[in-house]
Amino acid sequence: MATVSQLKSARPSHSGKTQTLIELAHAGVTFQSRTGDALVAVEDFNLRIQDGEIVSLVGPSGCGKSTVLRMLAGLQQPTTGDIWIGGGRQRRGFSEVAIVFQRPTLLPWLSVLKNVLYPVRALRRTTAADRSRAQELLEVVGLGDMGARMPHELSGGMQQRASIARSLILDPKILLMDEPFGALDALTREDLQLDLLDIHASTGKTILLVTHSINEAVLLSDRVAVMSTRPGRLQELISIDIPTPRSHETPAHPAFHHYAGRIRDDIFGPNARSRA
Ligand SMILES: Nc1ncnc2c1ncn2[C@@H]1O[C@H](COP(=O)(O)OP(=O)(O)OP(=O)(O)O)[C@@H](O)[C@H]1O
Ligand SMILES: [Mg+2]
Repeated sequence: MATVSQLKSARPSHSGKTQTLIELAHAGVTFQSRTGDALVAVEDFNLRIQDGEIVSLVGPSGCGKSTVLRMLAGLQQPTTGDIWIGGGRQRRGFSEVAIVFQRPTLLPWLSVLKNVLYPVRALRRTTAADRSRAQELLEVVGLGDMGARMPHELSGGMQQRASIARSLILDPKILLMDEPFGALDALTREDLQLDLLDIHASTGKTILLVTHSINEAVLLSDRVAVMSTRPGRLQELISIDIPTPRSHETPAHPAFHHYAGRIRDDIFGPNARSRA
């Protein structure tokens, strides 16, 4: 992958991880069905995320992980509690937040470069500086020579790389990722995990990542938030005290399996490991 040094000038430092950037305070979401039944998806959810942190959200299917992410993106209003981002209340959308979904969401009629530029185009006319930033971002995600291609000419992994480049074009402070590597083969997934760490190291983005992979959560995160089954609450918040920068060697660190086992116990119960 290309280096990300080009981006350093955009965000020179992210020293100290002491400032709260995101806060969910007693946040909850209840959905009303057409028949009038209420479904409590998320309940009394409390979490503070510091500027520059990588936090993973793990938990059983249907426990409300995507709902938490959607609240932070302003796509879902909390029915109870509050969401704060950078000290302000999150109401409807927030320009400093970008979201990456499980499946790449490129527009098929635009070239890869134009897809990366699309969020700018939706706001205003693009400039030469925007185009060179889009090209830089493509280089960052290893697609420097793919800008003129059409999305269907790219593999799934390459499309997801382009989606990540696009999520960074407006230089958001916060990257929300909903199982971004879930649809990829194991090798591509490993590659993209390490690329994400590189991007984080050079840009200092605050990242909240939903993943079904416990190992991915331990590898990438400063802290892992484990959610309980529906209604989703925060069950445990675990600091991953494994040195950074992380690499493909990190899973061999003696503490790695300790953390992975602890998260597995939280999700499946302490007897699950002996059954596995
Ligand atoms: N718009 C909606 N209307 C009604 N119910 C919804 C809506 N969105 C989500 N739900 C319900 O809320 C609960 C939480 O859903 P959510 O998608 O947040 O779970 P999740 O943890 O992301 O699951 P998965 O791991 O399978 O992606 C589920 O029971 C789901 O059916
Ligand atoms: Mg989900």
